[in-house]
This record gives sequence, structure tokens and C-alpha cells, in this order.
Amino acid sequence: MSEAGSFMKRTAHCGELREENIGDEVILNGWINRRRDHGGLIFIDLRDRAGIVQVVFDPEISSEAHQLAANVRPEFVIAVQGKVRHRPEGTENPQLPTGDVDVVAEVAEVLNPARTPPFSFVDETETEELVRLKYRYIDLRSPRMQRNLRIRHEAAQATRVFLNAEGFWEVETPILFKATPEGARDYLVPSRVSPGNFYALPQSPQILKQLLMVSGVEKYYQLARCLRDEDLRADRQPEHTQIDIEMSFVEQDDVLDVCERLFAHIFRETVDIELALPFPRMTYTEAMARYGTDKPDTRFGMELTDISDIAGQVEFRVFSDTVSKGGQVKGINACGCGDYPRAQLDQLTDFAKDHKAQGLVWMRVTADGIDSPVAKFFGMEELRQITESFAAQPGDLLLIVADEPKIVAESLDWLRREMARRENLLDDTVFNPLFITEFPLVVWNEDEDRWEAEHHPFCMPHPDDIDLLASDPGQVRAQSYDAVINGIEVASGSIRVHRRDIQQQIFEVLGITPEEAEQRFGFLLRAFEYGTPPHGGIAPGFDRLVMMMCGESSIRDVIAFPKTQRAQDLMSGAPSPASPEALRDLHIKLDLPPTE
Ligand code: AMO
Ligand code: AMP
Repeated sequence: MSEAGSFMKRTAHCGELREENIGDEVILNGWINRRRDHGGLIFIDLRDRAGIVQVVFDPEISSEAHQLAANVRPEFVIAVQGKVRHRPEGTENPQLPTGDVDVVAEVAEVLNPARTPPFSFVDETETEELVRLKYRYIDLRSPRMQRNLRIRHEAAQATRVFLNAEGFWEVETPILFKATPEGARDYLVPSRVSPGNFYALPQSPQILKQLLMVSGVEKYYQLARCLRDEDLRADRQPEHTQIDIEMSFVEQDDVLDVCERLFAHIFRETVDIELALPFPRMTYTEAMARYGTDKPDTRFGMELTDISDIAGQVEFRVFSDTVSKGGQVKGINACGCGDYPRAQLDQLTDFAKDHKAQGLVWMRVTADGIDSPVAKFFGMEELRQITESFAAQPGDLLLIVADEPKIVAESLDWLRREMARRENLLDDTVFNPLFITEFPLVVWNEDEDRWEAEHHPFCMPHPDDIDLLASDPGQVRAQSYDAVINGIEVASGSIRVHRRDIQQQIFEVLGITPEEAEQRFGFLLRAFEYGTPPHGGIAPGFDRLVMMMCGESSIRDVIAFPKTQRAQDLMSGAPSPASPEALRDLHIKLDLPPTE
């Protein structure tokens, strides 16, 4: 190797060489993707961020370079100087963008050797995710992860370009702050200089962006880090990024308009996909009735059909008793699935039970009528009415659940998506965005016997429902909204309360005492007394948007250094114990649970 600090610096990128470069003398820098020794000739696929090109080491051209190539291994970092040529007739590789050319090495230099990597992404074999996460720096070299990082970068740039042009200001808000009310647990950071006091890491900049509206910023955005100590899933990380947006002097339509045009811009600029505008809108009530969920995947039909009217009248007690107790009987028509064998239907019944249903009635629609273990409990006319309600044809399969509305909705939502998966109805080239509006302001928390905010306590009630706040809070609709794409909640927001009296009423419903309100968000309430514009906003989940654009099914694959389901960083070993000195400085004594 040459002297430290000086090396053969690149004049071209591996992945960019094309026919027009033939004859060029180039220096390439990169990693060895693959090496093939054909006795005389050695071929090295050299990889950099732009892609891969083949380099040929011919002892006749340079025995020194050939010698070096004989002794290198995958993931060594090397520099190669050579001439670009057309590949010999018949050896072109149409799979590679650079496949018409190769580079004949004249001089080569090892810039850094590499240990044998713990896994290889070159052969497209699946590596266990825990191993990928432990050696994330190697994993991120793979073409898939490089593409995901690039798409994420481009989506962030597109976001900024769009919002800047719309007159938004990017304002940074603190990471060391006070608890924010997004409903998850806080990450706490002890203060050294105020013993016994803690900062909370922001679950979102919610309060701060509202304060910025009081401050006259009018249009704010931030690619904001949000930290939440919650149970993790494929689309949830303890640290995630939101495109956090807030606007003054606006109504719901103004916010949704910016949001849908922002999405259209990001998708167009980043992955060249056109989202049709305006996005369809559906109220929460309608979404729950038609899909059993507030985040419907509208790429396929199979909507829920309510047959409670008919079911209330039948002899089959599972149905009629449920209806008389105030429950519902609803189902889906899995068109063309009437040939599902018994074993598969038993599986579906178990699946429904796993998702809280007490059972599942299936009915195969045949030319001669209904084939179902419970058919004998129904009259011909009742079966005809049921078939008609589902617009069912011979060959269809009806899947029906009777229960309280919440369980009917939840289990049928799962079943509907399960059937779509089994029937290959989930086209991943289709993106179906929509807005869900008019969420309930509050929901009843069974465990704690109290109302809690469905979104957060600062959502403005629907103007028609303000009177219900005192009498029937559960019926109050909020001016809140979500954006959903293909069954994934990709954004959430609301018009905020900017009037002290309404805010007070909402706190009362939520059982937040004036003292507690003062202690938790006194600074916000005080700010509201100094001239607050009507305002509202929304926060698209950036990781989820990027995940969809990358065609990935986990946000971990679009975050450079994500955490595991147990909120650990396997590469660094975080979280890890603090030194006794650090704890002493923070005045912290540990009282740990016994180890398992
Ligand atoms: P909310 O809590 O609904 O609203 O979050 C907004 C959006 O952020 C994404 N998101 C997440 N993504 C990954 N991991 C997580 N743990 C996670 N949690 C949320 C979702 C969600 O729709 N301050 C309000 C927004 C507002 O009212 O303006 C808020 O944070 O896509
Ligand atoms: P059982 O009377 O419990 O033997 O149930 C008769 C049939 O009705 C079985 O196929 C059950 O799976 C189904 N079933 C039972 N309870 C429900 C329910 N709540 N909703 C839908 N189907 C049910």
C-alpha cells in the first residue's frame, strides 16, 4: 500500500461506466463484491455506491496487478487503474447496467483488507435480521439497503422542496423537553444539575409546534425525531421521524390540501408514482362500518355487510341472541372462494377466534343453495335474503361473525385482510391513499374507567357537537383526521383547540384537574391567553411513507440504525449499564428487579 493518506483516487464510479466510456483510462475505488479466478484471468466485480463493474486482471497486461488480485477477498477495499473496453463478443451481461463494458486493470492497490464478513448479501440469500442488525454497517452496503437509504434521502429532499415552496419555515424544537401527550410512555433523561428532575424526550413536537403558532410562525415544518417507549411492531420504532406540520388561520380542508399535494410530490419525485388528487375522504363512522377499521386497505373490495336485520329474526340462536343483546351480525363475501376445503375453513375459524371472535359461520354458496354446517337452522327464505344481502353468486364464500360491534369489526378486519392475502389481492404496485375524518374526540378506557383522548387533548371538537361535550362526550366528533395508504396509517392530525373555555371542558371530560393541567401544560395554556390564532396541523410518519415507497414491509429496513423489537441496538449494545460515577453524578441509585 502507498503511504498513509495518499492513494489512487477515483476518477470514475464503477456503476456509471457505459459504452461511451470505452477507451477511457479510469481509476476506480470500491469494495470487492465477487472474485472469480479462471486460472489465467481473474475477474473482480468491483462495487461502489453507484453500482458494480467487472474488472479483468490479465497477467499479460500487468503481472503485479494480477498478483494482487490473486490475493484479495470479498469486501477488501481496493483502487484499480485501467482502461474501459467493450466486453468480448458474447460475454456481455444484460443484468448489469455496466454489463456491456469491463475495465482491464493496469495498476491495483489494496486500500484496506477485510475479515471474512459474517454474511454475504451478494447471492441474495436471506440473512437473519438479528445478524444484519449486529453488523449493520455491512448490511447497509447491500444494493437493497443502499437503494432504501437513497430513496429516504430523496423523499426528505422532496419534502423540503415542496414545503419551502409553500412558504413553510423549518424550525427545530428541543429534544430535551417535557412530557408530551401522545399516549405512549416517555423516555426520561435525568438532569445532573437539577437532582431528582428529569427531561422527557419528545413523543412529538406537538406542544412546541402549537406554541410556534402563538409565536406567529404561521407555517411550520420539521423532519422531527419522535421518541416513544411503546410496544414495537414492524411499523413502530422507539425513534421515528415525522414530517411535522402546523399552520395558522386554517381549517381542516387547508391542512388536508397541503398534505395530499405533499404526498403526491414526494411519490412523484422519489419513485415516479402519480397519486390521484384529491384523496378520497371517508368519515371514521363509515370506515368502521364498511371495513371494521379506521385504516382500511382499499386496494380490494370484500367490504363488510351488515345482516343484523335478518339475523335478529332467525332461529339460529348464535345470531338472534347476539342481536337481541345489542350486538351485530356482519360478514364478508370472499368471492370465488366457495371451493375452500373444510380444513382451510377450520383454519379460518381458528384465525377468527385468534382475533377475538367467538366463532365463525361459513356458508358456501352453490347452485343448489347454501352449504354450511349451520344451514339447517335457517329457512330457505332467510338463506335467500342473506345471499342477496351479500350479492353472493354460486362459488362464493360468506364468512360471518356475531358479536358486540367492536369484536365484529376487529375480527372481520383481520379476516378481510387475511383473505386478500390468501387470494393474492394485494397488488404492491398500487397505492390507494385516503383521508379518514371525524374521529371520536374521546374513547372509553375500560380498564381505567375513564374517557381518554382518541388522538390528544388539543383536538377541536366538531362545531356541531360542542354542546354534547357535557352531556354525551362519546358522541362528540373531533376535527381530526388520518391519512391512510393501503391499510397503513401514514399521517395523523387535527384542528386544535385555541379557546381556553373549550380546552377547559375537554380537560374536564378527560378527568384532568386544573392542577394537573397546570402542572403538565400550564405553559401552553398560559401562552394561549396571549393571542392565539386558529390553527391545525398534521404529521405524516416519514418512515412509513418511505417503507411503502421502497416496497418494504418493515420500517427497520428504511432506517439506517434501527432497534429490535426489544428496543435494543445490537450493534452498539445500547441500552447498556451506566458507570457508578455517572450514576453518582446524576444522584441515581438503582433498585433492579432480580434477573431471570
Ligand atoms: P401520531 O402519534 O398519530 O400524531 O403520529 C403521527 C404519525 O407518525 C407515525 N408514527 C410512527 N411511526 C413509526 N413508529 C412509531 N412508533 C410511530 N408512531 C407514530 C404514524 C402516525 O400517523 N403530534 C401528532 C400529530 C398532529 O396532531 O399533528 C402525532 O404525533 O404514521
Ligand atoms: P356452537 O353453537 O358454539 O356449536 O356454534 C355453531 C357454529 O356457529 C360454529 O360454526 C361456530 O363457529 C359458530 N359461531 C359460534 N359463535 C359465533 C359467533 N359469535 N359469531 C359467528 N359464528 C359463531
